[in-house]
Amino acid sequence: MEITNVSEYDAIAKQKLPKMVYDYYASGAEDQWTLAENRNAFSRILFRPRILIDVSKIDMTTTVLGFKISMPIMIAPTAMQKMAHPEGEYATARAASAAGTIMTLSSWATSSVEEVASTGPGIRFFQLYVYKDRHVVAQLVRRAERAGFKAIALTVDTPRLGRREADIKNRFTLPPFLTLKNFEGLDLGKMDKSNDSGLASYVAGQIDRSLSWKDVKWLQTITKLPILVKGVLTAEDARLAVQAGAAGIIVSNHGARQLDYVPATILALEEVVKAAQGRVPVFLDGGVRRGTDVFKALALGASGIFIGRPVVFSLAAEGEVGVRKVLQMLREEFELTMALSGCRSLNEITRNHIVTDWDLPHPRPLPRL
Ligand code: FNR
Repeated sequence: MEITNVSEYDAIAKQKLPKMVYDYYASGAEDQWTLAENRNAFSRILFRPRILIDVSKIDMTTTVLGFKISMPIMIAPTAMQKMAHPEGEYATARAASAAGTIMTLSSWATSSVEEVASTGPGIRFFQLYVYKDRHVVAQLVRRAERAGFKAIALTVDTPRLGRREADIKNRFTLPPFLTLKNFEGLDLGKMDKSNDSGLASYVAGQIDRSLSWKDVKWLQTITKLPILVKGVLTAEDARLAVQAGAAGIIVSNHGARQLDYVPATILALEEVVKAAQGRVPVFLDGGVRRGTDVFKALALGASGIFIGRPVVFSLAAEGEVGVRKVLQMLREEFELTMALSGCRSLNEITRNHIVTDWDLPHPRPLPRL
């Protein structure tokens, strides 16, 4: 059957992948309330389209940290992509490059920074988890720089791994034929089987729970690369991120995999944008599955969005072709949304093109018919 939207890859991936792998990719934390809310919240934002504007030419290009890309749709870091497809991160890197957009490589990729760089040209960011052993971190950052990565996305919402119950039930672990390639030479590339989630145990053993704002400054002493702080959900932290020298902020709840009952990212976005006061760009990830979602995020002040699960699901279904198709479908849907809203370029997308339930003076539940 022909695939006509991004979400359809989820069901195909579920059929194709071993249960342990699919569950790892799909799950959220605990009750998975935030997981559903990341999607549902988009459906409570409606359009106020403008008509009779010449939309025969639409320009979706934009600039992120000085890098020109073809559209404000980028790839979030998702770990262990070779569990989805043998080509894993190579396929994702090639698909992103072909689409003229940015791929973020996870620290926990099953391909190394050097291997991903060797797939060819492309603008790539490196996502960093800070290990207790700072020599490991310094080495890794240096390798990412040398491999031509253009920014560090510092993940700040994971001092411990969120409680993902499917992974606990499945005793999730990295399959023995794969390694966390960036850490292979450091003897940290394997994940032991444990009697709960192998990843949760790995995180508890290796990741630095004491990470704090002073480390954002420390990171700037070991690299010249711009730092995006990934995992901000409040105005308070947005201000601190700007003060700490961040080059940008990613509003993210880690795909609802960390703290459950945090708001959907699309609901947290506006307060972060206001607090950033235009001093740094603000991006969003979480639940973006449609071009309309991209438009809503931009209308609320995001400079761009990232997608996570659609990449691993489409990889599982069709490898590089699948990831290309996901990016193409989102591009076309976003372009259509712009045209039907009367916007010809990204700077024509305004707050007035949408209405949210928090815009109403006295929110009332809609009458049930
Ligand atoms: C992630 N995410 C993530 N984030 C990160 O900083 N480092 C990582 O290694 C991973 N790994 C990872 C694996 C899988 C399977 C998922 C689903 C997510 C979070 C990711 O970058 C992003 O925040 C969310 O995936 C965005 O939400 P959607 O698009 O998946 O709804």
